[in-house]
Amino acid sequence: MGNMKLTLKVWRQNGPNDKGRIVDYPVNDVSEDMSFLEMLDVLNDDLVRKGEDPIAFDHDCREGICGMCSLFINGEAHGPGRGITTCQLHMRKFKDGDTIYVEPWRSTAFPVIKDLATNRSAFDRIQAAGGFVSVNTSGNLVDGNAVPIPKDDADKAFDAATCIGCGACVATCPNGSAMLFTAAKVSQLSLLPQGKPEAKRRALAMVEQMDKEGFGNCSNTGACEVECPKGISLEHIARLNREYLAAVVTQE
Ligand code: SF4
Ligand code: FES
Repeated sequence: MGNMKLTLKVWRQNGPNDKGRIVDYPVNDVSEDMSFLEMLDVLNDDLVRKGEDPIAFDHDCREGICGMCSLFINGEAHGPGRGITTCQLHMRKFKDGDTIYVEPWRSTAFPVIKDLATNRSAFDRIQAAGGFVSVNTSGNLVDGNAVPIPKDDADKAFDAATCIGCGACVATCPNGSAMLFTAAKVSQLSLLPQGKPEAKRRALAMVEQMDKEGFGNCSNTGACEVECPKGISLEHIARLNREYLAAVVTQE
């Protein structure tokens, strides 16, 4: 059973055009074994029972895979702890009597839908601009293992592919830059032979879309890498910059 009493200060906002405000909620009987989202479920059950509007927040897999959960907790994307998403954060990271601030991702490109839920479709549009390959990946194919790929490249591509599109990098960056996300999506393809045919077009199109969406510029603060739950390395941003520069100077 729970034994912690907490005070939550939660951002409530009725819609994209509402000004929004912080509202205080006492939460009792919180077990240290609960995840942060389970603790919010308990609070929401209580609000529903009292006839009040439950707090809107995003979640799906609740096991660090989908990238949907996205909370700024006490000023940190995904809260205290490294290499975890909000759904993997447990209440044992907090102590009895704590006051916890819970806010949505703050970025012009991620407008608030309601309360803690933001619209991150800008990421989908960046991905759609170039995050794909046109080589035939179904039907009569050569076995994947028949294509020689240096182990180092395969490992780096795999690391880049672990990006779950959560947006913590954007929320953490003082400029609201989406460079770490875009770099991961470009890297996972450009490092592999299957991604080479469209490499130039991909880098140009994805960076162009990123700029159109209103994300800020990267100034190499490195904050994104620190808060990324999947440990996506800044090395991928350097690769994206090289890919983009090469595409620009050889553009016809
Ligand atoms: S780079 Fe990291 S922080 Fe950014 S969207 Fe991908 S997983 Fe999330
Ligand atoms: S709910 Fe899927 S990563 Fe947290």
